[in-house]
Amino acid sequence: MTPIRLHLMLGLAWLVAGMLLGEHMGRTGDHGQMPTHAHIMLVGGVLPVLWALVYRTFALGQGLLAWIQTGAHHIGALIMIVALYLNFGPMAGDESLGPVLGVSSVLVIAATVLMLLLALRARTSDPASD
Ligand code: HEM
Ligand code: HEM
Repeated sequence: MTPIRLHLMLGLAWLVAGMLLGEHMGRTGDHGQMPTHAHIMLVGGVLPVLWALVYRTFALGQGLLAWIQTGAHHIGALIMIVALYLNFGPMAGDESLGPVLGVSSVLVIAATVLMLLLALRARTSDPASD
């Protein structure tokens, strides 16, 4: 397993899960989980698939920093999605989820900052830079 493959597999799995939730929303007419659906699709699915493509296209390393980037993104995404689901469902109105969402946001932002660092570090070997 490599960070590229983990991003791709988890990203594609979240896309399927998010589409099933979207289908449920469309079928029942209950769009209450729209923010959850949006972030499953975009934070859970689109970003990891994009990260996998960025790693591959720019030949970014698959070492410890890449594992930390991948772990931070997917732990953050999982916490964010579960917290959003509870927030817009069974625990609606319960303010205790606020800090949990905050922690998940910091993880996802940190993973994006790490992506920037990895890209900066690899810029000399970037075939698109010249
Ligand atoms: C099987 C496929 C899908 C179904 C059945 C579905 C269903 C839905 C439904 C019912 C809504 C609520 C619309 C509303 O209340 O205005 C919605 C919103 C949304 N969907 Fe999907 N969706 C699907 C795929 C996707 C995909 C592929 C993406 C992005 C990669 C996506 C991103 C979004 C976003 C960002 C919103 C929120 C839009 C807004 O803020 O107005 N969905 N979707
Ligand atoms: C640190 C990560 C993120 C945080 C903390 C965050 C936070 C939020 C918040 C607070 C809202 C408003 C929800 C509402 O009005 O009910 C929102 C909506 C939205 N966000 Fe994010 N977001 C994050 C990442 C992203 C990313 C990476 C994307 C796209 C790639 C995205 C796309 C959207 C979209 C399309 C909406 C509108 C969906 C809706 O109306 O339900 N977000 N986000």
